[in-house]
Amino acid sequence: MALLDHKDRARNFYKYFSRIYDYINPIFYSEKMREKVIEMAEIHEGAFVLEVGCGTGFTTIGIAKKTSPERISCVDLTPEQIKRAKKKLNANFFLGDAENLPFKEKVFDSAISAGSIEYWPDPLKGISEMVRVTKNGGRVVILAPRSPKNPVIRKVAEKIMLFPSTEQCIDWFEKAGLKEIEYVEMGPYKVWSKLVVIISGRVP
Ligand SMILES: C[S@@+](CC[C@H](N)C(=O)[O-])C[C@H]1O[C@@H](n2cnc3c(N)ncnc32)[C@H](O)[C@@H]1O
Repeated sequence: MALLDHKDRARNFYKYFSRIYDYINPIFYSEKMREKVIEMAEIHEGAFVLEVGCGTGFTTIGIAKKTSPERISCVDLTPEQIKRAKKKLNANFFLGDAENLPFKEKVFDSAISAGSIEYWPDPLKGISEMVRVTKNGGRVVILAPRSPKNPVIRKVAEKIMLFPSTEQCIDWFEKAGLKEIEYVEMGPYKVWSKLVVIISGRVP
């Protein structure tokens, strides 16, 4: 297990990182990437949307351009992150764990998680939870940092948290029972044009 894909350590890290999070996040996650995440979630007007690992609410604000904030439910492990998100918009925020979502089955039209799976000790369990709470026909979308190509950088990165390959993400989506799987590799700049994979699957 890497340093941060352990729940207590991830929570503790974000407790302090939260203070500077909004300054650092735009370096890795652009508005264009957020637009793609939201497009791939196929959010229709009036949709009920779940966001897992909402952080301070950057993706949530994008979701709120498609459906009203009262119809958005957000889960995050870290109270300090939720506190900041709450100041930005009036969505429903829950302190909770991606691997044990506090919702009944099939209540959301779409489920999104952007930049959180890398901290989950059991990513397939988290994806399966998103599938469980999403209605038939709804989309589940994950944005994950991709495994770095350079072997030295990869070795260092993997000591910190999870960097799955695109193939690994496809495999998790298939194992979670998702169909019509689509993905794009994207990044915030030309030199980092494939920093993340954004993957979407439909709940059958
Ligand atoms: C990179 S930040 C979130 C990015 C956010 N989606 C955005 O749009 O900026 C990752 C978040 O995942 C949360 N997190 C980590 N492990 C989690 C888990 N097991 N369940 C729920 N949230 C988790 C962290 O507390 C942190 O706020």
